[in-house]
Amino acid sequence: MIHIIVAIGMNGLIGKDNDLPWHYKEDLQYFKKTTMNKTVLMGEATFYSILSRNHKILPHRKNVVATLDPNFHYEGVEVVHDLISYLKTVQEDIFIIGGKQIYTLSLPYADRLYITHVKRPYEGNVYFSPIDYSKYEKIQERNSGDLSFCVYERKEK
Ligand SMILES: NC(=O)c1ccc[n+]([C@@H]2O[C@H](COP(=O)([O-])OP(=O)(O)OC[C@H]3O[C@@H](n4cnc5c(N)ncnc54)[C@H](OP(=O)(O)O)[C@@H]3O)[C@@H](O)[C@H]2O)c1
Repeated sequence: MIHIIVAIGMNGLIGKDNDLPWHYKEDLQYFKKTTMNKTVLMGEATFYSILSRNHKILPHRKNVVATLDPNFHYEGVEVVHDLISYLKTVQEDIFIIGGKQIYTLSLPYADRLYITHVKRPYEGNVYFSPIDYSKYEKIQERNSGDLSFCVYERKEK
């Protein structure tokens, strides 16, 4: 099953330059809990953004990086050069963790969306592609302060 996990602010905001526009400890904990011991797939830009923040790859998860660069290599990281073929054939459960380019390419293949809605305005310049929510059923919702943790399941592909 292909899962997308993303925090989305007002008007679809997801990023500020190569970072997140906000800092919510509760969301980072939710991300950690949801992806722990799973396979996480990210674009090269998000990989380096995480690396500069944490100084290491995401622990206790299989890290997969999507890049068109044939020379990309990083210890402990698997590489995907053709994302669409990968998504069409992958058998294991994977979590797509960003960023914009990788979310956009993956959305048509995703079975479940784990969206943390951020209900406070922030500044930024990276946006998620519009989501047609009529294609999904909301199967979970938990509200906490500025945040609403929702899970949407695709009705049909
Ligand atoms: N709000 C959230 O939950 C959240 C989560 C994650 C990220 N973000 C934000 O998203 C932003 C980064 O997004 P981004 O779009 O710049 O970068 P990205 O999606 O992380 O990475 C883009 C890279 O993916 C690779 N790529 C593109 N198409 C591909 C394909 N078909 N097959 C294989 N690899 C492919 C390319 O790598 P090469 O250039 O190496 O070829 C491309 O540069 C940041 O602001 C970050 O903070 C937000």
